[in-house]
Amino acid sequence: MSLRGKNAIVTGAAVGLGNAYAKALALEGVNVAVCDIREDIDALPQELETLGAGAIGFRADVANPADVRRVVDGTREAFGSIDILISNAGVWGASVADDDLDKSLADYDRIVGTNLKGEYLFGRAVIPIMLEQGTGGDIVNIATDHMVTCGAPNVICPNLPTCPWKHPENGPRPTGGGEIMDLYDAAKWGLNGLLFAWAKALRPHNIRVNAFCMGATDSYMLRSFHNFNPSPEEEASWMRAEDNARALIDLLKEGPTGRTAQNLNFCVGRPVKLEPPLPDKYILASSINPANSQGRA
Ligand SMILES: NC(=O)c1ccc[n+]([C@@H]2O[C@H](COP(=O)([O-])OP(=O)(O)OC[C@H]3O[C@@H](n4cnc5c(N)ncnc54)[C@H](O)[C@@H]3O)[C@@H](O)[C@H]2O)c1
Repeated sequence: MSLRGKNAIVTGAAVGLGNAYAKALALEGVNVAVCDIREDIDALPQELETLGAGAIGFRADVANPADVRRVVDGTREAFGSIDILISNAGVWGASVADDDLDKSLADYDRIVGTNLKGEYLFGRAVIPIMLEQGTGGDIVNIATDHMVTCGAPNVICPNLPTCPWKHPENGPRPTGGGEIMDLYDAAKWGLNGLLFAWAKALRPHNIRVNAFCMGATDSYMLRSFHNFNPSPEEEASWMRAEDNARALIDLLKEGPTGRTAQNLNFCVGRPVKLEPPLPDKYILASSINPANSQGRA
């Protein structure tokens, strides 16, 4: 299925994975609206246009409802419709169980604000537009491998010998991406609520909802995590954002009959490619028509 002529929003596209997603979409002929809090987002639309697509950029904070409205309305005005939403913007910050309350509140606003509220707001702003258009669509939230490879559910993780975090006794990897990111993980796990509920409600409308759950992928965030001085071995193990973006394009090209409600795992030590869909064991489609809401849990 060709993506040419479709219209997409990519959040957090100034650097890192979002930047690679925006460029991969533009190369497929998708018109792309990009937003970011970084000022270098201003230069990206021109670069995307040279790749053959229409483009528009916004300086916007995904946690700010007024900014979200401005991006979504501005995109619709510029392109006429919205077919694809890639909610990618994310921040990392260390947080632990015994942090003091003041730090914890600031962390909550920053980490949950971007990594969960941002996806929530963009979904709420875009979904009514997709429904009104009646032409289906794709929503992809960017989560983390901490949701799928770290013991939950371990059946998804093949626990290959090549995995740098392979469990010594062949069990699942210890959960949660280490000991210093309880809030990051909580926000990303929160995306499961949106993933499953939205996928179920939107399937009758041919709108798919999936999440990307990647391990260490070279980006500004990952480099900052390593104080911009990773060991050569560490750096060599990282996946490339461009490969992940290729997998995103393959997912979008599945079209309306493709997978939905799935956390797609990209794991260090394995090729970065779209794996076959998992068995569709969760989704029983329900309409979002309120007349059908009675009896739903
Ligand atoms: N790189 C990895 O190894 C990795 C692994 C797992 C998950 N992820 C997730 O992938 C996504 C992209 O991460 P990345 O590694 O490319 O990070 P990055 O820091 O390189 O890029 C993130 C982009 O989001 C932008 N951003 C941050 N807060 C924002 C906000 N409130 N509003 C708008 N833009 C905002 C940043 O300015 C930046 O341009 C994130 O959701 C991250 O949690 C990354």
